[in-house]
Amino acid sequence: MALAVVIFALVIGSVIFHFASPWWFTDIISNWQSIDTTILITFWVTGTVFVVINAFMAYCVYKFRHRSGQKAAYEPENHKLEGWLSAITTVGVVLMLAPGLFVWADFVQPPENATEFEVLGQQWQWNFRYPGADGKLGTADTEFVSEENPFGVNPEDPNGQDDVIVNAPEMHLPVGKPVKALLRSNDVLHNYTIAQLRVKMDLVPGLTSYLWFEPEVTGRYDILCEELCGVGHFIMRGAIVIDTQDDYDAWVASQPTFAQTQQAAEPDLAAGQASYAVCAACHGVNGEGNQALNSPKLAGLQDWYVERQLNHFKQGIRGGEGDVNGAAMIGMANMLVDDNAVRNMAAYVSTFPDIPATPTIVEGNIENGFDIYDRNCAACHLDSGSGTWYTDAPKLAGMSDWYFVTQISNFRAGIRGLHSADPYGEQMVSMATAMSGLNEIRDVAAYLGTLR
Ligand code: CUA
Repeated sequence: MALAVVIFALVIGSVIFHFASPWWFTDIISNWQSIDTTILITFWVTGTVFVVINAFMAYCVYKFRHRSGQKAAYEPENHKLEGWLSAITTVGVVLMLAPGLFVWADFVQPPENATEFEVLGQQWQWNFRYPGADGKLGTADTEFVSEENPFGVNPEDPNGQDDVIVNAPEMHLPVGKPVKALLRSNDVLHNYTIAQLRVKMDLVPGLTSYLWFEPEVTGRYDILCEELCGVGHFIMRGAIVIDTQDDYDAWVASQPTFAQTQQAAEPDLAAGQASYAVCAACHGVNGEGNQALNSPKLAGLQDWYVERQLNHFKQGIRGGEGDVNGAAMIGMANMLVDDNAVRNMAAYVSTFPDIPATPTIVEGNIENGFDIYDRNCAACHLDSGSGTWYTDAPKLAGMSDWYFVTQISNFRAGIRGLHSADPYGEQMVSMATAMSGLNEIRDVAAYLGTLR
């Protein structure tokens, strides 16, 4: 009797929870209302079955409970009942599956006027490519991937020369226009998901998958990776901005074409050297660093990393509130008047002889540091601590260990990495908070001191 009441209460409670729950679909901003409809049909079918079967179970537990002197009857066959049950089950299964087949057929059949764009997934970033004036994307393949051509665009294909390359995890689209997304992966399975658009599909290495949609509301929405793709899966985030046509056109025009990314002029090392004179006072003539002046070692850093950080200081992405030493860098970075000056400086810094810094942290637990590094950091910064352009990870081995400690502490404290234009900084915030505190940070720094 008590069991019957419990089962019945569970049924009532589940139904109330379903309707009163604060958790529901995000507002839809695309043409895929039919996807919501199919999910609702599934909810109704499974919900009805859940209520009917459990209520029937509660009824049976009550009705046929043990009473002394009563005997159970054996009734193995009932053709009429079996016929009914089979028929009702068939209707339920068809109701759940058939609408999805129609919606799916639609989902992978883009309309004639849909314009194309490409999504490239890699561990653990999103990048995007748009056709240029010719409206055609050039061919691309992982065999062409290199530091200069991270997209793997075929350099021989004339259609690819004017392709717009977006080497950042933020893409834009115009509102009210159907688009076809071509999905490619550079390494493992990823999944391109935008909940508000009801868009979701795997990126499969070796082939191009596709889907289409029409964004109907302007705004900025998250792009998630919904395929477990390695230790950095949870930090593989991006953003999609749905613009008015004018805003979209302006944004596309501000992005480089593939040809432009391939034709960057040789940096001017003499000019870089001249602007470095002012940096030498703190960072040393050969970028060896000076802890007394809170100036980290620069020698050994990759040019693209130096370039990015200088630009972040210039753009107010680094050196904000709480970052006293970083704030001192803003004025310095602003002395570099344009992108070329920044590039020249970065190129000059990368010519310094890379002599490993003398470790200052020797009392950390190296074994624990290795465990943490191996689990959280090595996937991007590599086992050797050399870093790599592929994951946008700077070199750590042989760099200033005290600086590592202050920066990881800054990431943890929200002083660095939370600016909306610093997606890789945001990744570091997640990684830094995986360390429990100053002791563990010092352990990792001590381990890094053993990598030379
Ligand atoms: Cu890419 Cu998960």
